[in-house]
Amino acid sequence: MRTREMGSKKKKNTKARRVLMLLFAVALPSFIAISFFMYKHRNNSEIPTLLHHPISSQPYSYNPTNFSQKATPSLEASLFPPPPPPPPPAATFQDLREAEADPYHNWELFSRDFQEMLQHFKIFVYPDIFDKANPFANIFLPLDKNPFQNPRIGNYFSEHIFKISLLNSSVLTSTPRDAHFFYLPFSVNNLRNDPRVRSELRISEYVAEYTSSVARRFGFWNASGGADHFYVCCHSVGRDATSRHHWLHNNVIQVTCSSSYFQRFYVAHKDVGLPQIWPRSHQIALNPPHLRHRLVFFSGRVQNAQVRKQLIDLFGNHSEMDIFNGSSTFSYEEGFKNSRYCLHVKGYEVNTARLSDSIHYGCIPVIISNYYDLPFANVLDWSKFSVTINQRDIPLLRTILLGVTKETYLSMYHNLCKVRRHFVWHMEPRGYDAFHMTVYQLWLRRSIHRLSSL
Ligand SMILES: *[C@@H]1O[C@H](CO)[C@@H](O)[C@H](O)[C@H]1NC(C)=O
Ligand SMILES: *[C@@H]1O[C@H](CO)[C@@H](O)[C@H](O)[C@H]1NC(C)=O
Ligand SMILES: *[C@@H]1O[C@H](CO)[C@@H](O)[C@H](O)[C@H]1NC(C)=O
Ligand SMILES: *[C@@H]1O[C@H](CO)[C@@H](O)[C@H](O)[C@H]1NC(C)=O
Ligand SMILES: *[C@@H]1O[C@H](CO)[C@@H](O)[C@H](O)[C@H]1NC(C)=O
Repeated sequence: MRTREMGSKKKKNTKARRVLMLLFAVALPSFIAISFFMYKHRNNSEIPTLLHHPISSQPYSYNPTNFSQKATPSLEASLFPPPPPPPPPAATFQDLREAEADPYHNWELFSRDFQEMLQHFKIFVYPDIFDKANPFANIFLPLDKNPFQNPRIGNYFSEHIFKISLLNSSVLTSTPRDAHFFYLPFSVNNLRNDPRVRSELRISEYVAEYTSSVARRFGFWNASGGADHFYVCCHSVGRDATSRHHWLHNNVIQVTCSSSYFQRFYVAHKDVGLPQIWPRSHQIALNPPHLRHRLVFFSGRVQNAQVRKQLIDLFGNHSEMDIFNGSSTFSYEEGFKNSRYCLHVKGYEVNTARLSDSIHYGCIPVIISNYYDLPFANVLDWSKFSVTINQRDIPLLRTILLGVTKETYLSMYHNLCKVRRHFVWHMEPRGYDAFHMTVYQLWLRRSIHRLSSL
């Protein structure tokens, strides 16, 4: 009895198992097939949206009352987390307007991270910066003359003042193990002025040999392949200075004024755009908007730039526009003080000091310089205090500027005043000045480049 009962139970169990197996045999492949179909289907519907990105596929259309909102945000800016939820109902309409007018992508996020940087960030400088006995000491030591009082430094000022600021900064460490970054302290501008080096070829050979010597003398280079190393340069020759050392131009962070993402030795998101700033030891009082009677100012040589030639051909004789081939009939300073807009038009390079000149004098910069990786663009929303015009739209220049509403202009002016402090250097760095803004860019690039530990 017992065994028979058990036998029939066993038979029932086998039957149930068979049904289950059959179900599995049919259901599993179907499930896989359906999943595969859905996956494929999902892919098919996604690919076209990626290819036809709404921004890139739209033809450039110009709407004068609206163009400043059309500027494409930088990729890095889009990596920032979404903005915080709207302020509580207690906020007034005025508060909301002010928040909208803010020149930062996300002030709260930035300022919090910035404070953290001031507390923790450390940079080690290779000791050549102190070695007075080196026959090439002139390449590494900071300038012995105050660069604020050395007008010959002019366009290359940012390169020299960075070094002085760093040596006076709490970011500097003498303990390499604490360092997030290692600074290669050669000055491309000094190499350019040294008769023993001078030519672009010799500069790139010198820099390659110096880098190899750093790798021989210290372990830090080999530990990271140079990825936690950087150099600073405001001379256009600097870009090619790395060309003879594979690791130097692939891994090292180049902090450079000529930050064009159309150039082969500049790698956007790795390298850092440095603002080109003329030596000025103090801020001036600004001429307010209602005292700016001229529409637009530009003065400069045509150099090799087709875009400048076109600008002068189109507007050089226009009675409302102060656009000069060469120097202006009044002083350069007056041009910036009395105009509402000041043009920054690319010359040999995407960068010129006119951008920071405009900011210094409170004149809204009009940036006509395709592929310029604007300084601090992942922190500052340049569309809130400047106008960017594609080089091919030069004929529309006047129409675009006249189309800006008074309200938009005043908001840009207000924001320009807020960002001025980021374009000022000091011998001893402080607050949100150009030095701290520049090292903040390095801070953002820190751990991602740590390849191996020592
Ligand atoms: C601004 O442009 C958007 C589309 O980009 C449009 O919907 C809106 O009406 C425009 N605003 C004005 C004031 O023209
Ligand atoms: C900053 O550096 C310069 C040049 O290296 C030096 O002359 C100056 O005394 C320093 N300032 C401070 C406050 O350390
Ligand atoms: C780093 O690597 C290079 C090449 O592999 C080697 O010649 C050099 O001695 C290394 N440096 C150190 C400090 O070990
Ligand atoms: C600008 O001036 C220079 C020298 O005065 C002249 O050679 C050149 O043709 C001018 N360019 C234009 C576009 O007018
Ligand atoms: C501007 O005016 C001057 C003198 O009238 C003339 O020689 C020159 O060709 C004009 N330039 C342009 C670009 O029209």
